[in-house]
Amino acid sequence: MRIVLLGPPGVGKGTQASRIRERLGVPHLSTGDMLREAVRLGTGPGQAARAIMESGDLVPDALVGEMISERMSRDDARGGFVLDGFPRTEAQVEILDGILASLGTRLDRAVLLQAPESEIVSRISLRRSCPACGSVYHLRAQPPRKDGICDRCGAALVQRADDAEDIVRARLAVYREQTAPVAEIYLRRGLLREVDATGPADAVAANVALVLDGATAPGAAA
Ligand code: AP5
Repeated sequence: MRIVLLGPPGVGKGTQASRIRERLGVPHLSTGDMLREAVRLGTGPGQAARAIMESGDLVPDALVGEMISERMSRDDARGGFVLDGFPRTEAQVEILDGILASLGTRLDRAVLLQAPESEIVSRISLRRSCPACGSVYHLRAQPPRKDGICDRCGAALVQRADDAEDIVRARLAVYREQTAPVAEIYLRRGLLREVDATGPADAVAANVALVLDGATAPGAAA
């Protein structure tokens, strides 16, 4: 399956994309993770993106487009993928359309995760991330087994630089202005399904599974 996960910062896209990866065996392609890795390694794109990401703004479409195009052309993405954090602008929808056309394939489903802003801000303030392997924790809902240490690789957990409250507010404003219209496009194409993301992660995952299974059912909108 070829899936796009949409939703505001901190709603749980990364968390649900990991569940989809495990359930369907498709790679989880996160532009945020790719950019953070580029920043960490100090590559050209990473240097270009660093200050923009720390301000809560979006990095240029062309930079993200190049990165995701290269990633989607790899062998492991041939049978499907779950895109997390891309597309984020109308121009990126066109970039994705172009990539899919060049690969001779199309999207099966766009899933929009929704939660109230108060829940989002609370989730982000309690998030801790692993800078080494990208694992994500929540101090109350999904705490690591050992305080401050990643269960998966043992690295020290950190709070993301763009998770400071004023930057989170800026990211939410960018989402409303530039990314919410992306959901409208997929709605018009008949591909969009909305999922309430306020409950526990397992309950959200069950509802995401329902709308994805619907995409492969006979007669499902495509
Ligand atoms: P990116 O990394 O994509 O950030 P985001 O979209 O703002 O989303 P987050 O990673 O903050 O949250 P999430 O929805 O994945 O939630 P999570 O699962 O972690 O982008 C970062 C930056 O990179 C952008 O600001 C931009 O500068 C740049 N960028 C990236 N892509 C770009 C693009 N395409 N174009 C241009 N620029 C781009 O969950 C959040 C917390 O809640 C965690 O602690 C988690 O454990 C917890 N949680 C999750 N689900 C639940 C639940 N059901 N109940 C309780 N807690 C939960």
